[in-house]
Amino acid sequence: MTVIFESDCNRLRVFSALTGHEGDGAAQEVEAGLATSPRTLPSKYFYDATGSKLFEEICELPEYYQTRTEHAMLEQFGPEIMAGFAAGDLIELGSGANLKIRALLDAVDKNQRRLIRYVPVDISETALIEAAEHLLELYPNLTIMGLVTDFHHPLDRLDHSRKKLFLFMGSTIGNLHPDQATEFLSSVTALMDEEDRFLLGLDTIKDRAVLESAYNDAAGVTAAFNKNILSVVNSAMGADFDQDAFEHLAFFNRQEARVEMHLAARHDLEITVGDLGLRFTMNEGETIRTEICRKFDRISAEVMVRSAGLHIAEWYTDAEETFALALLEKRSETG
Ligand code: TRP
Repeated sequence: MTVIFESDCNRLRVFSALTGHEGDGAAQEVEAGLATSPRTLPSKYFYDATGSKLFEEICELPEYYQTRTEHAMLEQFGPEIMAGFAAGDLIELGSGANLKIRALLDAVDKNQRRLIRYVPVDISETALIEAAEHLLELYPNLTIMGLVTDFHHPLDRLDHSRKKLFLFMGSTIGNLHPDQATEFLSSVTALMDEEDRFLLGLDTIKDRAVLESAYNDAAGVTAAFNKNILSVVNSAMGADFDQDAFEHLAFFNRQEARVEMHLAARHDLEITVGDLGLRFTMNEGETIRTEICRKFDRISAEVMVRSAGLHIAEWYTDAEETFALALLEKRSETG
């Protein structure tokens, strides 16, 4: 890791682990996804500048309860969660605009905050620096160590003499397939010592209507977000997907306990992906799956985290179980 940014006040230092080879394998990944049944596209292609802006809009939609519910829970349970972390590293994986961390920092006494180091980890260098500088202004005695990385690199800058609280919010774990989730969680477990904790945000299994309307908002923002993946793939891979030829489809698959997002062909189509030398047809109604959003209850969450050597120490939720925060710790060898 190399230092890529230092603030004048010395309270912010940012390291990068990116090598420039992060895009390697992207072509094969897209090609493999388009060959499966149903066809799929990697959901990372949602997030160009337009996609990131649309995602921020999704988080504020009236139908999209997750962001505000999680935030309210962080405010409510923040003091309890932070009680054991008055001094230590707060490591947020996929920090993005880091609005959520403020609820946890606010839960700590002002004078204690200088003992906390915030460690945002994100793949976007500009987003990370911008958000970190804003936090420095809001919290005058906070220190920040930013890590720009794509999760495939070990976080070798972590200081193991400091107590660590890892955070992975927004039910992003649900966007990973079970084996990917286990792999990701295990990589965090490997960084944890016995007294460290890991706070995981999880969306819960609930009424179909509530789940489906969260991903089918009346204003059509989620539909625009979903279709934007086609434009990103067009630019990245020289494809000729026409957004207007596809319909946004999001539904709850109860069997798999997940909301699935697809793009359905409105009519028979022929598609070319120039950079892959690929040409294929889609029949009317055929779909490309672009995202899975897995939903959990305490039991399925426990099964998932156990597979990564963790267990749920504390399960925070509201009366309706709209959303949950699971506070995880390392499972002892005998547990
Ligand atoms: N993890 C959140 C969720 O599953 C946010 C999210 C990821 C999302 N991809 C999305 C929201 C696609 C809407 C559409 O809901």
